[in-house]
Amino acid sequence: MRKYKEEYCRSFQATMKIGNYFLGYRTPRTIVGPGSVLRLPEDIKKYNVHHVLFVSDEKIMELGLPNGLLKALEEAGIKYTIFSNIQPNPTDDNVEEGYRLFHENMCDGIIAFGGGSPMDCAKGIAAKNAHPNKKVSQLQGILKVHKKIVPFWAVPTTAGTGSETTLAAVITEAKTHHKASINDPAIIPICAVLDPELTVGLPPFVTATTGMDALCHAVESYTNWTYCTDLEKEYSKKAVKLIYENLYTAYQDGSNLEARQRMQEAAFYAGRSFTRGCVGYVHAIGHTLGGLYNIPHGLAMSVILPHVLRKYGPKVYKRLAELADVCGIEGKTKAEKSIRFIEWIEEINEKMGLPKGFKEIKVEDIPQMIKWADAEANPLYPVPEIWYEEDFRELIEELKKAA
Ligand SMILES: NC(=O)c1ccc[n+]([C@@H]2O[C@H](COP(=O)([O-])OP(=O)(O)OC[C@H]3O[C@@H](n4cnc5c(N)ncnc54)[C@H](O)[C@@H]3O)[C@@H](O)[C@H]2O)c1
Ligand SMILES: [Fe+2]
Repeated sequence: MRKYKEEYCRSFQATMKIGNYFLGYRTPRTIVGPGSVLRLPEDIKKYNVHHVLFVSDEKIMELGLPNGLLKALEEAGIKYTIFSNIQPNPTDDNVEEGYRLFHENMCDGIIAFGGGSPMDCAKGIAAKNAHPNKKVSQLQGILKVHKKIVPFWAVPTTAGTGSETTLAAVITEAKTHHKASINDPAIIPICAVLDPELTVGLPPFVTATTGMDALCHAVESYTNWTYCTDLEKEYSKKAVKLIYENLYTAYQDGSNLEARQRMQEAAFYAGRSFTRGCVGYVHAIGHTLGGLYNIPHGLAMSVILPHVLRKYGPKVYKRLAELADVCGIEGKTKAEKSIRFIEWIEEINEKMGLPKGFKEIKVEDIPQMIKWADAEANPLYPVPEIWYEEDFRELIEELKKAA
């Protein structure tokens, strides 16, 4: 049985590696720099879009973060309808509600403005608009959208998920708490705005956890390796270096625009890397924590990443040593560099006040978590080693104990 699973996953991945060359991955155009969000209406006009659905969340609206952009849209004669009834870890109900507004107001484009939650919900709305008769759950999985969506602009206000460049939209089913992804190049935005001024007000905790999410994307994609071309490998390395050099500064001094800009670039590169390279068991397990206990995605990532890397052991020494080299982390052997790299992750987590485990995990939920995580990762993610039920259990129990 074990041998069968390993063979099945690896042969699926070998086929997928070839298939990937025909999938039409693309990198969104970017509008970059302090204040650059005000240039968005110019771009929208080029697409002859007259009425956008503006997707954000309540907190961002209360902070008044989009005010400048909304005024610029009005001045440019672009109508907008705001949809902001979205919770962190957005649900299929959020998507359905947003789609109704999109449809009723005859919108012809979408601006996603916020962190991964509004961006993913907006992508879900765009996918639903392409398939109005399908439920969100029918669009989750690989290549279920497969149709052109309306023009879609993404304006990230966190520097983490990379949703502004990825093919993914992670949506939780409200009824079951099952979190799953729509994965399709069709939902990659046409353009991403990386304006660091929008992230200046991020609370340190959100800066820390979203930044670690970006690190996870870069590291998981790089240690997966199989699907990556040179572009994804290069993007992972760039992202890891930028995070190594800037995350702690952005955490300590939120108003440091240079660090904020670099973190947005890092999130973008890391997102683009995992769009093809895929994430791994950190995400597969983390999604179950988000769905079941509403643990913020980035927090789940920060905490789980070192545990998973340590469990991989020698299987990832070579790759992690390469990432250590990029950061200038020294060591005599690949093993030493790799372990120092993991220690750096543990240290920065500690310096940013993040926990080592999760007391929220309920023993009775573990079998369900194992099922979901296994189904998400295997056979799609080309992880460094294939895990079985007992591996997932060991890791999840370790997370509970470490709390
Ligand atoms: N699509 C993808 O490729 C992808 C990748 C990773 C994660 N995700 C998903 O993204 C979601 C998480 O996104 P996130 O980590 O960006 O968090 P989020 O969007 O849930 O935002 C977290 C909190 O920060 C607030 N916030 C956002 N920007 C702010 C700002 N500039 N100033 C002050 N507060 C601000 C939000 O209102 C919210 O309360 C999860 O559902 C996760 O599964 C998606
Ligand atoms: Fe993530």
